[in-house]
Amino acid sequence: MKLAPSILAADLADLADALRQCEEGGADLVHVDVMDGHFVPNLTFGPPMVQALKRRTKLPLDVHLMVANPERLLDDYLAAGAGWVSVHVEATAHLDRLLQRIRAAGAKAGAVLNPATPVSAVADCLPALDFVLVMSVNPGFAGQRFIPYALDKVRRLAALVRDAGLPVEIEIDGGIGLDNVADAVAAGAGICVAGSAVFAAPDPIARMRELKQVAAGALR
Ligand code: DX5
Ligand code: ZN
Repeated sequence: MKLAPSILAADLADLADALRQCEEGGADLVHVDVMDGHFVPNLTFGPPMVQALKRRTKLPLDVHLMVANPERLLDDYLAAGAGWVSVHVEATAHLDRLLQRIRAAGAKAGAVLNPATPVSAVADCLPALDFVLVMSVNPGFAGQRFIPYALDKVRRLAALVRDAGLPVEIEIDGGIGLDNVADAVAAGAGICVAGSAVFAAPDPIARMRELKQVAAGALR
């Protein structure tokens, strides 16, 4: 399992330290939650912030765009150095076009499904996708409770991907912690985002290692 700590849950006045912790804890990606106060009720990181984060870490930045009109902002985030970029299917009428733009910039292209959005929304565009992000909370905030039916969605998506024989990775985001990371991985999530489970822990580095260990146990 790849671990993608969400720095939204870290000390926002000390993100350089959060990045250092991610590197020491063995994180695979750094999850960056971009919120525009419109598509979701919260406001976070702009492109200059992503560029500044990029300068401070060698880990790939996994930029989760929770914005209306992603077509307007996408290029700025790609230019800022996002290695992985995902857009919500609910936010665009032209998902395929956006995915093509992400790949053309050399980044990994992802689509995000809100809890109530069916897996079928991405079934036909799997060839255009490097990953699908399944939301297991309603986007907007860290620290919310995990929505259990997200696991079924991950299972159904994993089956679709398997049947298609395509290398599409599945990421799960929201309310993931020591208590459910094994279930997420067993359902087919290859990438787990964890915000408060990591950064609200007394020792975030130890917690990242624990999450990876528990996930590895689920695969054995
Ligand atoms: C929610 C964000 C998540 C969130 C995860 O809108 O997309 O990435 O930061 O935080 P936890 O793990 O605390 O739910
Ligand atoms: Zn996220």
